[in-house]
Amino acid sequence: MTSFPEDQFQFWEERYLEDAAGWDLGGHTPVFDSIADELNPGKLCIIGCGRGHDVIMFAKKGFKVTAVDFAPSAIHSVKNLAAESNVIVQTVYSDIFQLDGGFTNEFDYIIEQTCFCAINPANRNKYETLVKRLLIPGGLLIGLWFPLDKTLQDGGPPWGTTINEVKTLFNLGWSIEKEEFPKLSIRSRKGREKLVIFRKTKLTG
Ligand SMILES: C[S@@+](CC[C@H](N)C(=O)[O-])C[C@H]1O[C@@H](n2cnc3c(N)ncnc32)[C@H](O)[C@@H]1O
Repeated sequence: MTSFPEDQFQFWEERYLEDAAGWDLGGHTPVFDSIADELNPGKLCIIGCGRGHDVIMFAKKGFKVTAVDFAPSAIHSVKNLAAESNVIVQTVYSDIFQLDGGFTNEFDYIIEQTCFCAINPANRNKYETLVKRLLIPGGLLIGLWFPLDKTLQDGGPPWGTTINEVKTLFNLGWSIEKEEFPKLSIRSRKGREKLVIFRKTKLTG
């Protein structure tokens, strides 16, 4: 099976160590902060969680958060932030595609932010299968789909996408709960990311 550089944790770890984590907002994501206030706190997973600012924000609001990343620096940061903020979160140092069966049908919510564009596009079907497995029936995939201003030909990561592609991928066994260009997108991502919340329908196997 083909392996791509971005499939390896070293690719991401190097960026953290070189202080080249340009995706990191340095704080929580305003769009998710606002959404958190509208949701009933439940079990929430952030895949490719990075340094974990949103992990802490959701935990402070009463969500039971599981943070998954395969870069040691990312998980180290999440643990430090959790200790500083005095919140308890579960950190999982793992490739998202290797998450064990214990996480099947586990989460009410999954948060997507620049993880989908970080993995190689060849793995996008696997990503859909993964999040469908992790969510409970009726659970929500809350995604800021990004970057919409790049094509696959432009290269990556971040690998470009379109809302059409995302909707085609999350078609069977999903319904759309909400779709909008959020007013609260940070300035550099305005118009380049779209919030689409998918619900895993209850009838899928
Ligand atoms: C672009 S960063 C985004 C981090 C975070 N979501 C944010 O918005 O700040 C992508 C993150 O996903 C992680 N990642 C990429 N592929 C992964 C995989 N297959 N399994 C686990 N983590 C992965 C990287 O280590 C990195 O922390």
